[in-house]
Amino acid sequence: MNEVSSPVALGKGSAGGLDLSRVRSIDGVDVHGKRVLVRVDFNVPIEGGAVADASRITRVLPTIAKLAREGAKVIVLSHLGRPKGVVSPETSLRPVAQKMKELMPGTTVRFVGDCIGEEAKRGLGALNPGDVAVLENLRFYPGEEKNDPGFAKKLAAHGDLYVDDAFSSAHRAHASIEAIADFLPAYAGLLMMAEITALGEALENPERPVMAIVGGAKVSTKIEVLTNLVTRMDVLVVGGGMANTFLLAQGVKIGASFSEPDFVATAKDIIARAQQAGCEIVLPSDVVVAKALKEGVDWQVCPVRKVPADGMILDFGPESVADMKQRLASVRTVLWNGPLGAFETAPFGEATFALAREVARLTKEGKLVSVAGGGDTVRALNEAHVAEDFSYVSTAGGAFLEWLGGHELPAVRALARSGAHAAP
Ligand code: 3PG
Ligand code: MG
Repeated sequence: MNEVSSPVALGKGSAGGLDLSRVRSIDGVDVHGKRVLVRVDFNVPIEGGAVADASRITRVLPTIAKLAREGAKVIVLSHLGRPKGVVSPETSLRPVAQKMKELMPGTTVRFVGDCIGEEAKRGLGALNPGDVAVLENLRFYPGEEKNDPGFAKKLAAHGDLYVDDAFSSAHRAHASIEAIADFLPAYAGLLMMAEITALGEALENPERPVMAIVGGAKVSTKIEVLTNLVTRMDVLVVGGGMANTFLLAQGVKIGASFSEPDFVATAKDIIARAQQAGCEIVLPSDVVVAKALKEGVDWQVCPVRKVPADGMILDFGPESVADMKQRLASVRTVLWNGPLGAFETAPFGEATFALAREVARLTKEGKLVSVAGGGDTVRALNEAHVAEDFSYVSTAGGAFLEWLGGHELPAVRALARSGAHAAP
């Protein structure tokens, strides 16, 4: 591996200075007969009028089922797509309510065709304890994305309590996420609690040494993440296309590989910050190259300093993988976002899959805490059949990155504020 610097002990930080202990869980809260507003992220793909992937729904079912079982009138709030404040049938939550009915066979699930106003009042008036209502898309009203207190107040009027279980929307300062928590006592749902606990532990108070693996195509989209991580991690593995830009910053010739020459200075700055903070940046020492990124193309492994002029770096090579495995043996926490190579095209997923299997194995043996997040990462872990074996796999893409970037998440801020008000 190219060792940009050697590791020394790091100080610990805190994401956005938030006191997570102020966030209240719904566990133990008496909800019987109460109207409980639950904000979820049902921003799911809809194809041919039906839900194409229900994972975001199944992840919050434990919260909804628990509240219903305990006799709450459960009122589900969500956005879907980006209708920008106008009613659009393609982004209706009706198919999602239909899916909920299928997933909760013993429960009465109603769809209510508006989230505020007379129709909402009528629909919610018919709820009995243990029933679930799914309100129509919040983003049909401009007040939602504007974090408008007036709109939040109208939503809040439907409920006695508010529960946020939408971690993957936690980075949005929207009315149903932030402003609403000023009108109702606010609690974190089970998924939200699991997400902030897992990420909090891995990022803010990890067992050390802690290694982050950050991949993906572009440095430009992850500058804040990398800049924040070098001050918190002991080791940072940079993978994917962004590794090429870091290699360029070190004067390595990368042939015809994808890179962002405009961000070489940024990469240099991140390397300097890492050196200052005592974080070791790890780049590949050997790579898999080909003349094109396509299935069935001829490929070869070569040392990173011998990439042919017409070669594209598409994955880490076996020596780099072996080296990372060796490093993992002494690491206690791993945070992972982004693949090492072009994993969607065989055989350029091999390094990502091999590393994923090793992280999973060490996690199962109790030697490692592993937290992963982001759409591509989750897809890669699923392809390697190891997602189940990680300590925690986050449902969130954008919110996960914001958190890794050191930003305060509006949802967590709102929950902590509500908890602080309630504290004696
Ligand atoms: C997501 O899918 O990333 C969340 O639901 C947030 O959606 P948005 O990016 O449209 O705000
Ligand atoms: Mg998004």
